[in-house]
Amino acid sequence: MKVLVATEKPFAAPAVAGIKGIIEEAGFEFALLEKYSEKAELLAAVADVDAIIIRSDKIDAEVMDAAKNLKIVVRAGAGYDNVDLEAATARKVVVMNTPGQNANAVAELVLGLLVFTVRNFYNGKSGSELLGKKLGILAFGNVGRNVARIAKGFGMDVYAYDAYCPAEAIEAAGVHAVANQGELFAQCDIVSLHIPATAETKQSINKALVGTMKKGGILINTARKEVINEPELIELMAERTDLKYITDIMPDADAEFKAFEGRYFSTPKKMGAQTAEANTNAGLAAANQIVGFIKEGITKFQVNK
Ligand code: 3PG
Repeated sequence: MKVLVATEKPFAAPAVAGIKGIIEEAGFEFALLEKYSEKAELLAAVADVDAIIIRSDKIDAEVMDAAKNLKIVVRAGAGYDNVDLEAATARKVVVMNTPGQNANAVAELVLGLLVFTVRNFYNGKSGSELLGKKLGILAFGNVGRNVARIAKGFGMDVYAYDAYCPAEAIEAAGVHAVANQGELFAQCDIVSLHIPATAETKQSINKALVGTMKKGGILINTARKEVINEPELIELMAERTDLKYITDIMPDADAEFKAFEGRYFSTPKKMGAQTAEANTNAGLAAANQIVGFIKEGITKFQVNK
């Protein structure tokens, strides 16, 4: 039984060592492919593996066909839009994620980016504070809940909307629930996106929605670039010179956004989950889930059926 860790963006070294330990302890063979630049390298590395641990690495039908023995793919992280679930199901390959394991890391980055933004990217000019500002959290999953927890520590007034989470559950977490995403954008000073990239959400953050934000509104995206309608957001930011867009996922139109000096910031590479702790939490969970599946058939956290 051979398990491959295939990560274009590598895990921290202690996480890799921990994964290797779990895999070898189970009597399986461990293999590592890091920082690869060509898909051909991935196709060659999967040839004889039974299981793969990935991050945002793309696992499509071609990769699965190159992995003749493949039984399971675990996305060490939350979003699994990088795995072709239909192709996996058709080939009887189980796909899992490790929900919640890297949520705190992403949430800490959100608040860090917000402080950076309201202090004018640390350029020395007088900025503003987060205390008392209305923060809207779009989707109240693991990351959204952690953002709420930390934002409350900053004294922010926290609101949330989640199409799949009842208002009572949001209120139970000490957060104001609003009726829909339109209300969230219209009421809040800052909106933080935590929605997955699905057929429903892709391009859904558009001019009509963001355009309802109050003067000086900040949109922060640590979710997926695909949820943004980039041409519309660019059009809006050209008209509304008060709005800011801060993101951890570089937009396709990065060069155009860069024209909005002082109102746009993107990390060079998605780094929300890029901490030793998150890598260890997610990586070890992925390794344990593979061992549990191979040895005992445990399919908890399976995301395809
Ligand atoms: C996730 O979905 O878990 C995050 O976006 C982290 O992605 P990464 O593992 O590519 O950093």
